[in-house]
Amino acid sequence: MYLFKRVADLGQALGQEKKAGKRIGFAPTMGALHQGHISLIQSAKQETDIVVASIFVNPTQFNDPKDFEKYPSTLEQDILLLTAAGVDYLFLPSVAEMYPAGPDAEHPHYDFGYIESVLEGAYRPNHFQGVGIIVHKLLEAVRPDDLFMGQKDFQQCMIVKRLLEITGSSTQLHICPTLREADGLAMSSRNMRLTPGQRATAVEISRTLQWVKDNLGTRPFSGLRAEGLARLEDAGFAPDYLELASGNDLRLLDAPEDGPMAILVAARLGDIRLIDNMTVGS
Ligand code: PAF
Repeated sequence: MYLFKRVADLGQALGQEKKAGKRIGFAPTMGALHQGHISLIQSAKQETDIVVASIFVNPTQFNDPKDFEKYPSTLEQDILLLTAAGVDYLFLPSVAEMYPAGPDAEHPHYDFGYIESVLEGAYRPNHFQGVGIIVHKLLEAVRPDDLFMGQKDFQQCMIVKRLLEITGSSTQLHICPTLREADGLAMSSRNMRLTPGQRATAVEISRTLQWVKDNLGTRPFSGLRAEGLARLEDAGFAPDYLELASGNDLRLLDAPEDGPMAILVAARLGDIRLIDNMTVGS
């Protein structure tokens, strides 16, 4: 695995690969890697010739400075995992490399419209602008044919799909299924910060989602939402939201409709905020 820290050097190396006719796959990450990330790499290896991963904890997408400071970092272990997974290029830029004028300088504003205003967008102001800024920069650095992202960040996938449209990119987005621990907890870098007690409680998020999914249509969604939120509170969570939304445009729904849908949840355990979702329909 080759490691690059500079956009220009990475661009030059990948330019050679492209000249040789290689199809480039890319999985952007913030490190603290787990099997969910590795499954993105595995999909990329199946679909493309050269797999690029990036590790960059992006300051502009953290609306809460404490969350940024406490974001887990396991770089040595990450490098071992990516090497074992067969990644060809790791891009590991500094903040100065990605933000030469500093992360607080003015950035372009992306018109993501409604999908930026609800759910995570409502609870994490500017988060998706930060995601847009860095994903755009990373895409310009890597220029991949295919981009691999996890369904766990359902709304982020929608934002990136929109970013690709806005920027007229020909990169194809592949949304890969969420990987779960044996008890159902969605794999997430933030799980590393859970105490054993919080880890035991955390399973209630996926249990609640599954319960809502199993009971969808048996009563109005408002009732399922209220019961689901109460379940989470009883377990010790401070929930932010539990919603049913269209999988096409994230419209919040009062009742199931034809077509793809998702049940989405965000809840806090102490100062750790977890999100998860399950899709319904097709
Ligand atoms: O999902 C993530 O890890 C991040 O939001 C991403 C896409 C790497 C952008 O910083």
